Amino acid sequence: MTQKHLTKHSFTVRKLNAFDPDLEAYTFPHWRPVFRSLGSNREGLEPAFALAAVSRDGEKVGLLLGRLEGGSKRRAVFLSVYVAPPWRGQGVGRALWATAEELARKEGAEWAEANYVLGKPSIAFLEKILKKQEWSVPRLHMYVVKFDLETVGDVPWLRNRRLPEDYEIVLWRDLPKVALDELISSNAEKAWVPPDLSPAEFLENYHEQTSVALKWQGKIRGWLITHQLNGVLRWSCGFVHPDLQRRGRMFALYGHVAQRAKRLGLQEITCTVALHHPDMAAFAVRWLKPVVKRFSESRIAEKRLREE
Ligand SMILES: CC(C)(COP(=O)(O)OP(=O)(O)OC[C@H]1O[C@@H](n2cnc3c(N)ncnc32)[C@H](O)[C@@H]1OP(=O)(O)O)[C@@H](O)C(=O)NCCC(=O)NCCS
Repeated sequence: MTQKHLTKHSFTVRKLNAFDPDLEAYTFPHWRPVFRSLGSNREGLEPAFALAAVSRDGEKVGLLLGRLEGGSKRRAVFLSVYVAPPWRGQGVGRALWATAEELARKEGAEWAEANYVLGKPSIAFLEKILKKQEWSVPRLHMYVVKFDLETVGDVPWLRNRRLPEDYEIVLWRDLPKVALDELISSNAEKAWVPPDLSPAEFLENYHEQTSVALKWQGKIRGWLITHQLNGVLRWSCGFVHPDLQRRGRMFALYGHVAQRAKRLGLQEITCTVALHHPDMAAFAVRWLKPVVKRFSESRIAEKRLREE
């Protein structure tokens, strides 16, 4: 551990060089694998960084976790920040943030970026930090949806839907190579898969028992790839070929996966819908918002760390 900075109040901010199990609870379950990877130089893994706030008597009181992403134009993504409740409102959060900016700059990042879900009262305090640190004005980024699998049977469009005979839903893990090759060549012929919704991008640690493909006339023309963490299933990437959209095929995929998840004893489903896919955002507002347990928004803000 390198000791740095801030002697202003009764805490210091330190860069962590390795995972610290004492601080694991200070980040979201979703980001814990990133925290655990801290300091590992595994090839292909985007490097994590973390800062801890420690009180004068050695109590660990805060954690900021981030990751350096992208190739040569590196950006630092601040994934989470947390301060133990008795220590809030004393500058710990801002000190973690400011130190993380410095660290990211030193690591060569050109941009810093943060996105966060609205809903908790302390988001107002986070946004104060962003303002003081001269980040961009936060803007709407994604919808974040959560629903309860207990009540899935009550949602008419999520009940198992019958598909016409030339459609089939199969587990992704059962797809033969020839079908995957056909998908690649079909997209190479006429690009129809949005790059950020390509299934290949989502297959690391995917949930094999609920990730499915939609086959149309034997060819892969849709998918819903999922991940599972602590009883919560995330619909990570869903898409249906543009020619087959607006016929309820996506509903069939959602419904199919929800039923599978329910049979496996999972309790909740969550997904995010990016606003830069306007059709999907409209779909979420029309169909998901009225039936889900929670429908929140996430915001994004950035800061340039270096001049061009
Ligand atoms: C958001 C969070 C990290 C802020 O940490 P913090 O140590 O309280 O932050 P700071 O002390 O630097 O305060 C930041 C600003 O919020 C204000 N603030 C913090 N807590 C406050 C409170 N309870 N009441 C009023 N204002 C408060 C501070 O006064 C400061 O504003 P100012 O600069 O205008 O004075 C902390 O509230 C937290 O851990 N929340 C739970 C986790 C979370 O929601 N994280 C964000 C999403 S990842």
